[in-house]
Amino acid sequence: MAKSEQLFNRAKKVVPGGVNSPVRFYDPYPFFAASARGSRMITADNKTYLDFCMGYGAMVLGHGYSAVTDAAKAQLDNGTLFCVPTEREIKLAEMICKVVPCAEMVRLVNTGSEATMHAIRLARAFTKKKDVIKFEGGYHGAHDYVLAKAGSGAASMPASEGVLEEASSHTLVVPYNDPAALERAIEKNRACACVIMEPVLANIGLVLPEKGYLNEVRKITEQNDVVLIFDEVVTGFRLELGGASEFFGIRPDLATFAKALGNGFPIAAIAGKKEIMQKLAPAGPMYQASTFAGNPVSVAASIATLETLAGAKNSIYPKMARTCDEIVGGIRDMLSRAQLEGTVNSIGSMFQLFFTSDKVKDEASARKANAAMFRKLFDELLKRDLFIPPSQFETCFVSYAHSEDDADKTIEAYGEAFRRIKK
Ligand SMILES: Cc1ncc(COP(=O)(O)O)c(C=O)c1O
Repeated sequence: MAKSEQLFNRAKKVVPGGVNSPVRFYDPYPFFAASARGSRMITADNKTYLDFCMGYGAMVLGHGYSAVTDAAKAQLDNGTLFCVPTEREIKLAEMICKVVPCAEMVRLVNTGSEATMHAIRLARAFTKKKDVIKFEGGYHGAHDYVLAKAGSGAASMPASEGVLEEASSHTLVVPYNDPAALERAIEKNRACACVIMEPVLANIGLVLPEKGYLNEVRKITEQNDVVLIFDEVVTGFRLELGGASEFFGIRPDLATFAKALGNGFPIAAIAGKKEIMQKLAPAGPMYQASTFAGNPVSVAASIATLETLAGAKNSIYPKMARTCDEIVGGIRDMLSRAQLEGTVNSIGSMFQLFFTSDKVKDEASARKANAAMFRKLFDELLKRDLFIPPSQFETCFVSYAHSEDDADKTIEAYGEAFRRIKK
């Protein structure tokens, strides 16, 4: 029996479903990781996979990037938790304010879910209104405010039990890429505190904003005094140093970050306009707190990550985009050679394939793609030493560590997988 299978059987006895986050499970059992370096992950069975999950986008510089791990190691000897402020926290906040267009102030937290939960509470405290608008297929974490028609793992199961109806009744959901639907929802609902959105949907597969759409969202929210929150947990420091707001030239009122900020270390942030951020306790009346916020090891890792990204911004982002473009071009070519219908959406260092010939521009069109075929693709790629997120409703990530050679191997693996699926 494979070691991963043995470990999964053992895990199931003490960990619900055998995994600590539902997206990690796939049939019949997931492989267990032993180590990772660069673009590769090594399993408990000593197999090496070329990784395109990359911590669901967190590993922007690749696994075990030495400047980041060295910074974390150095901090380990100087203390792992103080629960009093440190100079490094100011430095990190200053760095974020320098590169993120909307960031006038920053509050550090630990996870993306925590960041979006508090950003929404902040918008409610600032506007003194209750309702939240989110988009179909948008994922903002696993808390009650946002678990309605959500993407990621939540897209593959019925609405979660245990979510308070009283909380979700204040969350309205509208289709993405449809400015008129957003305008109607806001006009009908004068109690709207905020619109929270992934500027690029990355949790229902990958879905890009149509030309001018984000500008429209900004205009509509501004005209109606509704706080606009960009959830940049995926896009932050990945699409560009200043995230999607730099990439598209749009300034939201608040933005949330996690994943790439720490290149694999647990850290997240809420950033935004001073007049809103000042509502946070102890500056203001909105309570938010956390024992681990500003954890010194994660802060050291994040400073090293941002220093690396900022220091080589003109080579890192173009290199990741080039590698991604090459892979996407190759996949399209392999699709047509195999005479399979498919659409590949991509932007920067992110891509995803849908088995449909239709344009995928929102949740409804993403759901029309052949997810069963995607599941077969996942299995066939795994057999060819390629690990992509197991679900259609996720995104593949290229890191700075992915090489041209990796791109060639990837295209070849997709080509072979397509031929197998076709049979
Ligand atoms: C856009 C987005 N927001 C929020 C979250 C939640 O972040 P976390 O899993 O760190 O709580 C995720 C996680 O995948 C995400 O993709």
